[in-house]
Amino acid sequence: MNIITNASDMQKTMQKYKSEGKSIGFVPTMGYLHEGHKSLLQEARKRHDIVALSIFVNPLQFGPNEDFDTYPRDLKRDETIASEMGVDVIFYPTVQEMYGEELTVSVKVTNRTDALCGRKRPGHFDGVATVLTKLFNIVLPDEAFFGLKDAQQVAIVQGMVEDFNFPVKIVPVTTVREEDGLAKSSRNVYLLEEERKQAPQLYQSLLLAKESIEEGVTNSSSVVSLIESHIKETTNGIIDYVEVYSYPQLKTVEQLSGKIIIALAVKFSKARLIDNIIFEI
Ligand code: PAF
Repeated sequence: MNIITNASDMQKTMQKYKSEGKSIGFVPTMGYLHEGHKSLLQEARKRHDIVALSIFVNPLQFGPNEDFDTYPRDLKRDETIASEMGVDVIFYPTVQEMYGEELTVSVKVTNRTDALCGRKRPGHFDGVATVLTKLFNIVLPDEAFFGLKDAQQVAIVQGMVEDFNFPVKIVPVTTVREEDGLAKSSRNVYLLEEERKQAPQLYQSLLLAKESIEEGVTNSSSVVSLIESHIKETTNGIIDYVEVYSYPQLKTVEQLSGKIIIALAVKFSKARLIDNIIFEI
């Protein structure tokens, strides 16, 4: 397994693979790999000759009061996991390598951001779109794999790839969960013992909401109230948002129909957790 830190070396390596007729599956990450990342790597491994993984904690997508400095980082651990998963090449650039002193151009996301995390984290998806524009140009993937836990990210990246004609297919991969239903996330390590016990209730609340829709509830506000009450009753978390939209458009739907996403974010003492379910009515 090759670890490359220089963007131009990475691009040349990928160009060489392409010239040999090899297909490239790409998993962009911020590292501290968990089961969710493993499922993306597994999917990429199944479908491609070459699997490329990037590990880069992207400062552009963190707000001033967010956890950029404390975001968990452990290259040695990630290397072991990557090699177990059959990764061929890791791209591991520094911030200086990616952005130099100052960017001349950055990407601004103009749609699908006034909901969910986009509304709560202004500029976050501009940072994601900017780094992915660079990474797609450096890694030259045929397909890039993204977890549906960040469903808004998937919707925005899909929009970006269509709008800008990137020659890459976005492959969404189902959320991987702990046995008790908690969505796997690098941030779960921040949960206190008691919070970890309560955290599966987030997914439970989404399942309750789905059940209520299947039993005939048709308006978003009732679904939101049901979820909010469940979370308040069963956890000490502070609700950041509970929202229902059409998917992937992320438009408000008062009367529920078609493909929808029910998504939530809840703050615990040191971790803000997100989760969602997407289904057709
Ligand atoms: O989902 C993530 O880990 C990040 O947003 C991504 C896609 C690697 C861009 O930095």
